[in-house]
Amino acid sequence: MTPDDATLYGSRVLVTGASRGYGAAIARALAARGARLLLTATQESRLVRVADDCRAAGADTTAMTLHLSSPDSIDALATAVAAAVPRLEGVVMNAGVLGPTGPLDACDPDQVARAIQVDMLGQARLLTRLSPVIADGAGVVLVTSGAAGRPGYAGYALGKAGLEALGLMLREEWAHRGIRVVAINPGPVRTDMRAQAHPQEDPATVPPPSERVAPVLAVLAGEDPGPRVQAAEWGLS
Ligand SMILES: NC(=O)c1ccc[n+]([C@@H]2O[C@H](COP(=O)([O-])OP(=O)(O)OC[C@H]3O[C@@H](n4cnc5c(N)ncnc54)[C@H](OP(=O)(O)O)[C@@H]3O)[C@@H](O)[C@H]2O)c1
Repeated sequence: MTPDDATLYGSRVLVTGASRGYGAAIARALAARGARLLLTATQESRLVRVADDCRAAGADTTAMTLHLSSPDSIDALATAVAAAVPRLEGVVMNAGVLGPTGPLDACDPDQVARAIQVDMLGQARLLTRLSPVIADGAGVVLVTSGAAGRPGYAGYALGKAGLEALGLMLREEWAHRGIRVVAINPGPVRTDMRAQAHPQEDPATVPPPSERVAPVLAVLAGEDPGPRVQAAEWGLS
């Protein structure tokens, strides 16, 4: 067991978007290190399979549905988390949607707004609702993307740019509580979203998400690499 693994053992961590892709890989890696998990996604059927895997690895695991498009769902999740655990030592805001792609003026503005709601506004609401239950000294990871602010990615680009701004803001506002807020860009990983964004790409040429989880675990275990890091360049994967 590494020092990081020893720190993660028994720590209570919320992971959003844990039903598949990068979030599921993070959940499984945390389960293998004995973290106590609260896992969320929109679709219970997929989420319970990941939760079962985590329990089979010995991790105390609770699965809860969450729709970041719905303020009521966000508030209900925050209330349920506060009832379930006294404190969270870690939060991984991983859930996201790609939304429409292409030039912004060619995209349906309602679809763009829906992506911004999920990728940024819903995340801000959830984090601030969770604030009372986030422990002093906790690690908070915001999963961002190289597409933040990039042309052609419409609401996703705006949402991720806003998410990074949210991270900078909360990093300062929560500094007196010793909370490390770090935006981590996993880079390309082999998931449904990657296939949706790059349908012509051979998935075999993209690394599996399990190869990019080490920086997330390190932040949750106490490291603070700064406000924003690229998973592949941190030298941990
Ligand atoms: N894949 C890449 O190459 C890549 C690169 C850079 C950054 N990222 C970022 O990494 C994160 C994970 O991406 P991924 O590739 O693993 O995506 P994915 O395979 O599409 O999985 C997305 C996850 O988010 C959840 N989710 C979707 N809409 C939601 C909503 N409205 N409310 C709550 N949860 C919702 C999904 O739950 P359901 O299964 O229930 O729908 C699922 O668990 C995202 O933030 C993404 O932007 C990915």
